[in-house]
Amino acid sequence: MPQLCLSGLAGAPSPKVTQPLVVAGRARHQSLWQRRHSAPLLSAFSAGLIFAAAVRSPCSIVRRQGRMAAMAAMAATPEVPESFRRLVAERAGESVRAVAVVREGTTPEPEDGQVLIKVITAGINGGCETFRARGERAFAGMQNVSDYALGSEGAGVVLRAGTGTDLQPGDAVAFVGNAFAELNIVKASSCHRFGRASDMQAQAFRECAALRISGLTALVALELTGEIKQGQTILITAAAGGTGHFAVQIAKLNGARVIATCSTEEKAKLLRELGADRVVLYKQEDLSEVLSKEFPEGLDLVYEGVGGKLHETALAHLKEGGRQLQVGYISHYPQAAGKDSSPDSSTDQGKTLGDAFWGGKTWELPGNKTVYFNVWEGLKRQTLSEPPGGKPLERLFNLWSSGRLKAMVDPKAFVGLEQAADAVEFMMSGTSTGKVVLDIQAL
Ligand SMILES: NC(=O)c1ccc[n+]([C@@H]2O[C@H](COP(=O)([O-])OP(=O)(O)OC[C@H]3O[C@@H](n4cnc5c(N)ncnc54)[C@H](OP(=O)(O)O)[C@@H]3O)[C@@H](O)[C@H]2O)c1
Repeated sequence: MPQLCLSGLAGAPSPKVTQPLVVAGRARHQSLWQRRHSAPLLSAFSAGLIFAAAVRSPCSIVRRQGRMAAMAAMAATPEVPESFRRLVAERAGESVRAVAVVREGTTPEPEDGQVLIKVITAGINGGCETFRARGERAFAGMQNVSDYALGSEGAGVVLRAGTGTDLQPGDAVAFVGNAFAELNIVKASSCHRFGRASDMQAQAFRECAALRISGLTALVALELTGEIKQGQTILITAAAGGTGHFAVQIAKLNGARVIATCSTEEKAKLLRELGADRVVLYKQEDLSEVLSKEFPEGLDLVYEGVGGKLHETALAHLKEGGRQLQVGYISHYPQAAGKDSSPDSSTDQGKTLGDAFWGGKTWELPGNKTVYFNVWEGLKRQTLSEPPGGKPLERLFNLWSSGRLKAMVDPKAFVGLEQAADAVEFMMSGTSTGKVVLDIQAL
């Protein structure tokens, strides 16, 4: 999280505050699969039109085809508006709700190596947004800044591409950058192209926004930092959440035995469907007892983002040589629902998880156990460009597009910049399932 959340630290000031707009209701999505299956029908329909035209006269087909090609090109290159709206913090404060205001600005031009993106969906990384809004930890510099941009991840359509990038107008991309905005300038290197926007439905943008950080974190942490192996036993906490549900599937794809924690039976059902071998409803069952009784040999690997008691229980059951991937500590984040009242510390180290996490520490503990607070550490050990199985982002998106990895998006709809704070609070409520997203505008 520390690296990925740092996007947009230098949000540029913008000229005027606008009234919130009334945002049209969200037409809930037709699935990507439905869209994909309907594509051949559409092609057949277009082919039929061309055939009918050809029967009339050879000249008319040439004219008609020319018009169709021109229309297709127009559809593939979306219009660029002259101005756009974005959500900024005027100054650091209590929460996203307290600091966020909508501002309007003139559409900027992408420079060398940049693209201008029409943002379709923003992913909600509630912890990160809250620290950013409060100007705390890695965002301490925000205390002295006014009008800084909010949002850290999203998916959208390239409208313009600067020189020195392979991206084209009309490309659908998932990106790291300030996504609570209708338009955004993003480094092309922070974008992952997942197709042509004209071939996609809104749901694909939601799923790819989820993949870009939440999915990638799980893949890099487990495969590169954790070096997960077939037959290993892994504990995953907040397993039905934005990053957790990817971790469960990636662990299963690697042949591991998965113990998954969550708080409700509804989430447990989803986890069983995703392949979890043992689901522990940690508010009803004692996790430590379950681990002692059913997994006495201990844990090879832990993917842990809750902190507090779950962090300590996991660590206590880590086997010799085991690795704990401490992806976060949400139960101690400001604004987290049901905030953990226990001290944010590790009994082993006497230090707060927050300090270790934001400091990107690695704890080497007796018994050759390791706790990674920078779960991206493994990228350093591999050649970034070619770790086994291909580049991490390519491997992740290939798993998704081939249907082997599902991106689950919480069905609760949030639409427009005005609902960003609602979406963040929902994500921090402890009740969401899969990835929470905010639809910024229609495709
Ligand atoms: N290091 C990175 O790059 C990186 C990237 C993405 C996410 N993360 C971290 O991974 C963790 C999960 O993030 P996420 O975005 O995927 O969120 P999420 O799992 O979708 O949502 C949080 C979940 O945590 C559980 N939880 C337990 N105690 C909680 C509390 N007091 N308040 C709120 N939720 C609580 C809840 O599920 P149950 O109680 O039902 O299990 C809740 O649904 C966070 O710590 C986050 O910071 C890190």
